[in-house]
Amino acid sequence: MFAERFKNRLAVQHENGLYRSPLEINQRDGKYVVSGNRRVVNFSSNDYLGLGASSELRKKAADNFFKYGATSGSSRLVSGNYSLIARAEKEYARHFGYDEAVFFPSGYQANLGLLSTLFEKGDAVMFDKHIHASSVKGITLSGAAFFGYRHNTMSHLEKRYKANGNCRTAVITESLFSMDGDFLDVAGLLELKKKYGFFAVVDEAHAFGVVGRKGMGIASDVADIAIGTLGKAFGIFGAFVLLPEGVKEYLFNFSSPLIYSTTLPEAHAATALDVLEMVADSHNKREYIRHISRYMKESLGKAGLETTGDAHILSVLIGDAARSKKISVKLLDKGFYVFPARYPTVPSGKAILRIGMTALHTEKDVNRFVQALRAVYDKTE
Ligand SMILES: Cc1ncc(COP(=O)(O)O)c(C=O)c1O
Repeated sequence: MFAERFKNRLAVQHENGLYRSPLEINQRDGKYVVSGNRRVVNFSSNDYLGLGASSELRKKAADNFFKYGATSGSSRLVSGNYSLIARAEKEYARHFGYDEAVFFPSGYQANLGLLSTLFEKGDAVMFDKHIHASSVKGITLSGAAFFGYRHNTMSHLEKRYKANGNCRTAVITESLFSMDGDFLDVAGLLELKKKYGFFAVVDEAHAFGVVGRKGMGIASDVADIAIGTLGKAFGIFGAFVLLPEGVKEYLFNFSSPLIYSTTLPEAHAATALDVLEMVADSHNKREYIRHISRYMKESLGKAGLETTGDAHILSVLIGDAARSKKISVKLLDKGFYVFPARYPTVPSGKAILRIGMTALHTEKDVNRFVQALRAVYDKTE
């Protein structure tokens, strides 16, 4: 009954150059991934500090899973509320300077479980148009009225607020944008927050661990609530939400994804504690990422490739979706994996190559990649 529709819609995806089919990875080896018989340098990983690839973290995780087992056995609200999980959450809250924290099985689930619960009909939610799909989904499920503002444009946010902010109002943004790679205008948002007193939720998924003192991100002055994922710079999986007093209790009572889903096991909480320390101590890695990311951006610029991004996420504008995919496929043959981000991940007609820099990349990797990209870019229509 549905098969015909599925077939037609997939055919349209193909026609528009938007068909998605994940690259199968046989194995990961540090900065490399092996796909088929090719071993390629991975410029598509969010394991920014390289911790996920490190034997130190793998050993700690293995020990924790051996000690505590691999399941919590139930949701947090049934029999999964282990003191070790609560202790790890307290430590995350303390570390980042918030009252409370709560873990979720992923960043996607965190945004969905948080935003769909905090807001309701009668509220207004203003959001940066480039926020992650999980936040958009959470906002739409909440029932609140929602208003997108132009990416990182505080004057447009203010205009939206003046027209629609005559009720309980929240602003949702990221601190380091996942595709554009640019930083939130923290000072601008803070100024508006002081002026209008709205509630601010900031997703620091790509900043925590890599940016700011001890990897503490950039938005603590403005974020009433912050979201971090453990699946990027923290090298494991899962996510944490940093909260003011009273909100955790509210989520335990009203957040469906939290109430009705098996919680991550104690072994995860133990590993999250281990990795928090490793991240805080990764000062040299953060310095190095800054250096190697700048080196990549400058090298791309010198090669005449238009690039945006203020930190370790860089994006090379391609425009046409099908072309971005072709370039990515050709680069695999030259020894590099770089992700072609297409609509709806980015706006229609604005396909990019999204380059994720990590502490594992070297200047030699960058030089070889830029040379390969330049050659492929010129030869691909
Ligand atoms: C800004 C942002 N928030 C949340 C997520 C989701 O995090 P996770 O991968 O842990 O589900 C992502 C993932 O790409 C992201 O880019």
